[in-house]
Amino acid sequence: TNPVPRLAEIIAAHGHVAGPTLPTLHAIQAEFGHIPAEAIQMIADAENRSRAEIHGVVSFYHDYRETPAGRHVVKVCRAEACQAMGGEAVAAHVAERLGLGFGETAADGGVTLENVYCLGLCATAPAAQIDERPCGRLTPERADRLLAGLIR
Ligand code: FES
Repeated sequence: TNPVPRLAEIIAAHGHVAGPTLPTLHAIQAEFGHIPAEAIQMIADAENRSRAEIHGVVSFYHDYRETPAGRHVVKVCRAEACQAMGGEAVAAHVAERLGLGFGETAADGGVTLENVYCLGLCATAPAAQIDERPCGRLTPERADRLLAGLIR
């Protein structure tokens, strides 16, 4: 379906907010699950900014997606506390197990793999989140068990 009419409504609804870009993007992602490509130009026009500026905002914030997510989303923490506890090895293992790079979604739409920069689970680093479920004290073995339900 064509997202443009609803995008126009969301953008218009934020027209009188001070600093409307982030609240507008937030509302769009909440509704669509990602930022449809059409939205970038529409927001740029509405705010008298360049397309590049809006695109820069979208890519700066890791929470915004430019493509729809898979049915499951695996977020692996790459921030300092997790790195210090071996998180990079877990991240590499998860990527290999899923056969995905970070930021990629499986071709069958099953799983999206994403980086995240601190989940607030530093006390149980290294950490990840699978869908809404926080997962701490990860090892490659524990990650395999957690991922087993997602991969068929
Ligand atoms: Fe990974 Fe905080 S640094 S959860």
